Amino acid sequence: MNTETREHLLTAMHGEAFAYAKYMLFAEHARSHGQSKVADLFEQTAKIELLEHFAEEAELYGLLGDVEANVRDAIAGEAYEVETMYRLFSEQAAAAGDQAAADRFAEIRGDEADHRREFEDAVRNLGPTRVDPSKTATTPSREGSFVVKSIQRFSDKDGCI
Ligand SMILES: [Fe+2]
Ligand SMILES: [Fe+2]
Repeated sequence: MNTETREHLLTAMHGEAFAYAKYMLFAEHARSHGQSKVADLFEQTAKIELLEHFAEEAELYGLLGDVEANVRDAIAGEAYEVETMYRLFSEQAAAAGDQAAADRFAEIRGDEADHRREFEDAVRNLGPTRVDPSKTATTPSREGSFVVKSIQRFSDKDGCI
């Protein structure tokens, strides 16, 4: 795949994942303010962002590896957050006088270190992988794809597609 196309897929996935998280937060807020109709709209839209847009882009990008590769990918992501991102963000915020943000970044950094440790334990304790063809997320046929199965689950549960 063209390098720029691949970069665009990754950028788009970040956007869709953020939209999902934001809409779920907006939905909770709307519900707590007695606006259940708009809360439902936020939730339904959020699910499309995740289960269709993100998932379809992830499939094109080849985000999923085998189970061990996915756990190792998670370790690398958590390690980046611990060693680089949250460490630098916390230092910058403290230097700029934004103490609440500095403290929050530092506290979250601690959580990410726990996540890294848990994934490191998981990779050491991985048993043999059994593949159930009816549940695999990477089957090449459209009917068996992660996207279609996710949408089917969504549709079965909520009846809104
Ligand atoms: Fe979207
Ligand atoms: Fe994490």
